Amino acid sequence: MSIGNMMQPDQANVNGGVHGGEIMKMMDTCAGIVARRHSRMSTVTARVDELEFLLPIRVGNLVTCHGQLTYVGKQSMDILVTVMVEDLKKSEPSRMALTAYFTMVALDENGLPTEVPRLIIETEEEQRLYDEGESRYKAHKEKRKNWTKD
Ligand SMILES: CC(C)(COP(=O)(O)OP(=O)(O)OC[C@H]1O[C@@H](n2cnc3c(N)ncnc32)[C@H](O)[C@@H]1OP(=O)(O)O)[C@@H](O)C(=O)NCCC(=O)NCCS
Repeated sequence: MSIGNMMQPDQANVNGGVHGGEIMKMMDTCAGIVARRHSRMSTVTARVDELEFLLPIRVGNLVTCHGQLTYVGKQSMDILVTVMVEDLKKSEPSRMALTAYFTMVALDENGLPTEVPRLIIETEEEQRLYDEGESRYKAHKEKRKNWTKD
C-alpha cells in the first residue's frame, strides 16, 4: 500500500527542508491504513521503532510512503514504512529517505484492544521480515514487563 504527496511550502522548517514531523505524520497515516485494511477495525499507534532520516526532503519533492505488514501478534500489527523521495525537476529515480517500524493496535467498538487476523506468509522475504518483527515484538513485551515491575 502506498500514499504520496508533493511537499508544500507550508510543510517547510526554518532551514527550508521539510519538517520531519510532516513526514512522520504521513508514515503514521500509511501504517494506519495498512493496519485498518488488515484488521478491518479502528487502530491506534502504540509504538514507532528505528526511525532514521537518511536523506533531506525539500519543498517540491514527491514523497511516497510504502507500508508493509511484517508481523502480527494477537492484537497488534508490525508495519514497515519505507519513504521514497523524488526530485520532480530531475530525471532521476526516487531514493529511500527513511524507514521505520510502526506497532498498531486494533480496537473494538468500545475502544479496547481486540484480536486481529493471522498473517499469511508466502515468500522468503516475508518470512525474514516476519522473524525480525517477532524478535522486536518479544523484546518490547519483555521490556514492558520490566516497566510494570518498577
Ligand atoms: C496501545 C494501547 C491501546 C494498548 O492498550 P493496553 O490496555 O496497554 O493493551 P494491552 O497491554 O492489553 O496490549 C494490547 C496489545 O497492544 C500491544 N502493546 C501495548 N503497548 C504497546 C507498546 N508500548 N508497544 C508495542 N505494543 C504494545 C500489546 O503487545 C498487545 O498486543 P498483542 O496482543 O499482539 O501482544 C494503549 O496503550 C493506548 O491507547 N495508547 C495510546 C495510543 C494512542 O493514542 N496513539 C496515538 C498517539 S497520538
